Amino acid sequence: MAEAQAQQRGGYADDGPATAEGGVRLEVDGEIATITLARPEKRNAQTFATWSALARIGESLPEQVRVVVVKGEGPSFSAGIDLRMFTPEGVPGQGSFGSAAKSDGADFEQRIRQAQAGFLWLRRPEIVSIAAVQGHAIGAGFQLALSCDLRIVADDVSFCMKEPALGLVPDLTGTKPLVELVGLAKAIDICLTARTVHADEAMRIGLAERVVAGGDLDQAVREKVAQLLSTNRDAAVATKRLLQGAQARTLEEQSVAEGIEQAARIKALFG
Ligand code: ACO
Repeated sequence: MAEAQAQQRGGYADDGPATAEGGVRLEVDGEIATITLARPEKRNAQTFATWSALARIGESLPEQVRVVVVKGEGPSFSAGIDLRMFTPEGVPGQGSFGSAAKSDGADFEQRIRQAQAGFLWLRRPEIVSIAAVQGHAIGAGFQLALSCDLRIVADDVSFCMKEPALGLVPDLTGTKPLVELVGLAKAIDICLTARTVHADEAMRIGLAERVVAGGDLDQAVREKVAQLLSTNRDAAVATKRLLQGAQARTLEEQSVAEGIEQAARIKALFG
């Protein structure tokens, strides 16, 4: 445990020459991993390097980690995709939408799949992910918050799915969790108007689990982490698996799945 702490505390996720552009920091402390978007001077704008850094963290996350906290340094959680992607020059070493449009469509779809990998692993049953969100969470920033299991937010939070206003669709895995959290009508309203959702509404419609004063965000996250770590690890993993599968199963199927998971638990505990 101490070794993992020493190795990873304060280190940047290795993303080759693009590390500085990625701007992602990983800290592992025993069962807790903290991922920090660390380009506050650019409001933690995200690039392809950010997403590949996130994917690499997911691939190499130490097995002992049970809770992953995702946060942003500075006044904003994340102002979304780096707007240089919309310029002819693009992001150095990573191209632009203009250059992507000239390439084979299949190539770009593949790049999007790679980017999505940085978000998808945050739903693994083996971990619980918490987004600690203050200030702006726009576009890719909103979707990163949506890719986590839980969202604890500061009272200055402002979520905005800006993609449709820019002629794009939200493609970083955010549409499904948004619909599941707030329902189809509200998701259509939020996305197709690109309006801002503030803290009170986020709490009311189920986007946030808790709203706290900005200065209390870290403490609120620490409290939630402690609560999550207080339950049995294997039971937590099995229970998350059950909960994640519940919507796609009938009641009868879900009951069968509960029995299978419980039989395994009883065997592990008393066998
Ligand atoms: N990409 C690149 N740089 C950005 C981005 C971004 N998305 N957002 C902010 N920055 C930069 C600014 O250019 C500025 O840089 P500079 O100091 O070199 O001029 C710096 O971050 C600070 O930005 P300000 O606008 O001065 O900060 P402020 O706190 O006043 O406003 C806000 C923050 C509201 C987030 C504003 O920066 C903004 O609207 N950003 C763009 C949001 C956006 O449209 N994102 C794309 C969403 S769509 C998607 O993600 C797919």
